[in-house]
Amino acid sequence: MFELIYQSSALNTFSDDQLESLVSEARNFNVAHDITGLLVFDGKSFLQILEGDKKIVEDLYDRISMDERHCNVNLRWSQHSAKRSFTDWSMGCFALEGASVEKDLMLKSRFENRLSDTLSHGSRLFSILSNQLYSACRPVLT
Ligand SMILES: Cc1cc2nc3c(=O)[nH]c(=O)nc-3n(C[C@H](O)[C@H](O)[C@H](O)COP(=O)(O)O)c2cc1C
Repeated sequence: MFELIYQSSALNTFSDDQLESLVSEARNFNVAHDITGLLVFDGKSFLQILEGDKKIVEDLYDRISMDERHCNVNLRWSQHSAKRSFTDWSMGCFALEGASVEKDLMLKSRFENRLSDTLSHGSRLFSILSNQLYSACRPVLT
């Protein structure tokens, strides 16, 4: 299993409809290619976790990097991981309201990395989302 995490900046504001259509387009491909993961959007920045076969994830990341809906696509993490963290999600999507991808998610995860080395980066980020940012987190297209 291979896990890749990137952060990027949305080029325009995204309405709920636009976010939903992005996610449903993504899910079609992801289901067909056994890709799972999570997309978080705080109104400005995206954070996405992709997991699956290494070659498929890397090719998908290359395509996503060229997508004109966002810029400053910044790879934060990519590595083999022992197991899949998001078995049930071909692409879970959460809108963060009143919290930020960089300050509340990435910085915290760096801190938490030191606490628990056994978890994958994806599951650490998810545990921050579900435990600490729960009230700021709105599921999109469940
Ligand atoms: C933030 C963001 C996340 C995306 N996530 C995925 C994804 O998980 N799976 C996917 O197939 N496409 C995703 N896309 C869409 C791809 O960038 C691209 O539009 C799609 O792979 C079709 O590419 P093609 O037009 O080159 O065939 C995402 C786009 C953005 C902007």
